[in-house]
Amino acid sequence: MSVYLHVIVWGCLLRSGLCSTVEKTKPKAHNRFVATKEWKTIEEGQTVPSGLHYRLNLKNGKKEAKLIDSGGSVEQHGLAKDDSKQSQNLKQNTILVDRSAAINVYEEMQQQLLQGDQLSNLFTYIEFEEKKKQVDEKVIASLLSELQVLCCEADNADNFYRKNGIQKIIYKHVNSTNKSTREAALTLFATVADHRPMVKKHVVETGGLTTLLRLFSLEKHPDVKRAALKVLGVIIRNFPVARNKFVELGGLHVITESFPTQPLKDKVKMITLLYDLLSERREKSADLDNALYNLGWCTNFNELFQEVVMVNIQDFDSIEKCLLVMDLMASKCKKFYKNDVSFQLNRQFALLGELDGDEDHYFINLSTLMSRLFESSSSDFETNREL
Ligand SMILES: *[C@@H]1O[C@H](CO)[C@@H](O)[C@H](O)[C@H]1NC(C)=O
Ligand SMILES: *[C@@H]1O[C@H](CO)[C@@H](O)[C@H](O)[C@H]1NC(C)=O
Ligand SMILES: *[C@@H]1O[C@H](CO)[C@@H](O)[C@H](O)[C@H]1NC(C)=O
Repeated sequence: MSVYLHVIVWGCLLRSGLCSTVEKTKPKAHNRFVATKEWKTIEEGQTVPSGLHYRLNLKNGKKEAKLIDSGGSVEQHGLAKDDSKQSQNLKQNTILVDRSAAINVYEEMQQQLLQGDQLSNLFTYIEFEEKKKQVDEKVIASLLSELQVLCCEADNADNFYRKNGIQKIIYKHVNSTNKSTREAALTLFATVADHRPMVKKHVVETGGLTTLLRLFSLEKHPDVKRAALKVLGVIIRNFPVARNKFVELGGLHVITESFPTQPLKDKVKMITLLYDLLSERREKSADLDNALYNLGWCTNFNELFQEVVMVNIQDFDSIEKCLLVMDLMASKCKKFYKNDVSFQLNRQFALLGELDGDEDHYFINLSTLMSRLFESSSSDFETNREL
């Protein structure tokens, strides 16, 4: 029974978006930030009056603000002198005004910060950091994450694009030599491109797919590779121009080459992407079917299915994803589907299907699908059913 509960939770977690946690926890606008003379954290969703000092606390990634000191000189912005005890600490963890920087850069930035919205402020911060001789990657990565959170709001993402953020910020930092920076830039990329045909078109036109494919294919760090795959998926899903370009650029080969060496969960992400591509405009995807067939995916699908079941027979989400893509490719691939695990799995599905709670026939459907896919190779399964 506890197994069953676990499964239901899994089901509910399916397809969470890039920004889901932010959206869920975002309070309403009546929540207004009240500034004091001390730095105070701006909570998620709070509206912030203009004319305050802002900074980003890198320790917790939170924005902070306070009232402008009256008669405030440059010295009083940022790391105030009376903070001297904490100031060493803060220096490690807070971006703001760097007092060693040229005073005019500082003032210019301060001006913009006073006038600007949060998005403009972050553009300013990031430019400011990039201009430093010794760029602090931690600061850059943190600013990119900050931008990502901000871009979860549609208006901000649109503005980010209009301010040429894709070229000025994303393309620059996906090329970073630092893994954390690359990953943060890619996560931001996915958020900005998600559901934005305008952005997708721009990416195709500016050679972004080539960059992403190169990145994905050369990337050694699994987290970054996964982030690159995510961006690719966001851009080519539901956007035929990008999808065709992806195929034209050899995207399927790149995915195929990487596939065998990826961790299991990333393999599942890859076949999910293929499933989505195959099921969009199904009637026109014969070319894709053929390409995947020729690249040996019939075997890949079947082997991944066996692997997923053997690793965790209760990972129904992944099992479902395998079965669905196998089903789409069945007319070409069925003869490759050899099943050593379906007996065990089918028994489990039947059991779960009989329990109350499978009202929409999730398990029964999976079981039916599986029988259909493996019917020729598992005729012995039918006769062994009662064992
Ligand atoms: C990359 O940046 C992170 C901070 O974001 C830092 O901790 C790490 O040491 C940097 N790695 C390299 C190789 O510079
Ligand atoms: C990123 O790197 C690639 C290949 O090294 C290069 O062609 C491209 O111009 C670089 N992009 C930026 C914005 O630096
Ligand atoms: C199971 O199949 C039935 C009939 O084909 C369908 O109406 C239902 O939505 C399916 N349930 C799930 C969870 O896929």
